[in-house]
Amino acid sequence: MATITIFGKGNMGTAIGENLQAAGNVVSYIGKGESADSVGDIVVLAVPYPALSSIVKENAEKLAGKVVIDITNPLDFDTFDSLVVPADSSAAAEVQKALPNSKVLKAFNTTFAGTLTSKTIGGSHQTTVLVAGDDAEAKSQVFAALEGSGLATLDAGSLKRARELEAVGFLQLTLAGSEKSAGMVDLDFLIKCQTTIRY
Ligand SMILES: NC(=O)c1ccc[n+]([C@@H]2O[C@H](COP(=O)([O-])OP(=O)(O)OC[C@H]3O[C@@H](n4cnc5c(N)ncnc54)[C@H](OP(=O)(O)O)[C@@H]3O)[C@@H](O)[C@H]2O)c1
Repeated sequence: MATITIFGKGNMGTAIGENLQAAGNVVSYIGKGESADSVGDIVVLAVPYPALSSIVKENAEKLAGKVVIDITNPLDFDTFDSLVVPADSSAAAEVQKALPNSKVLKAFNTTFAGTLTSKTIGGSHQTTVLVAGDDAEAKSQVFAALEGSGLATLDAGSLKRARELEAVGFLQLTLAGSEKSAGMVDLDFLIKCQTTIRY
């Protein structure tokens, strides 16, 4: 059982929180304009990318030593054609730079609020949460917290892989935006297949 604080009470914050609560964790939320004296062992930043920098700045001390999960897809919503983070970096890497004393992970950005709630993609494949980060223990804590939620988990590698996870999230959003929703199913399915293919 872990204590979990989720910044953001929107679609993703609620869907992630419900899964973590169903798995037996203690979940609390911090909404916009709210604050808390302390945060749980695991903190989920379920807010739009532009909100990250002020949350990180205002809570840096409280977040020290904590597992901090960045779930954002940092899209340029004006053009819908690029990410707003440097091409050789990622939103998660930028958060880690700003929070050197926290254990930052990238997760949940390749799942959707709907598929976290239904726990399936296309009604048949189990929804998989991909987790990238440099701290093995932090990843284990998150896998343990999700055990019993009904979601599958997959270690996606080091925090460097956040860049690729954000690229996948970007592609999924552009496919969804052009109503090619089958692309989302195929991408998740492809990721699952990759885990069984030996090169
Ligand atoms: N929706 C998806 O399926 C999906 C999938 C993958 C990743 N994501 C990522 O998940 C994040 C959240 O998306 P969402 O769909 O959940 O958006 P959402 O439904 O709009 O929820 C975002 C929530 O964050 C709140 N918020 C904004 N600034 C805040 C702050 N400083 N402190 C606390 N809460 C704050 C918003 O409050 P107000 O409404 O009052 O502004 C809102 O309740 C985004 O970064 C998105 O890229 C979403």
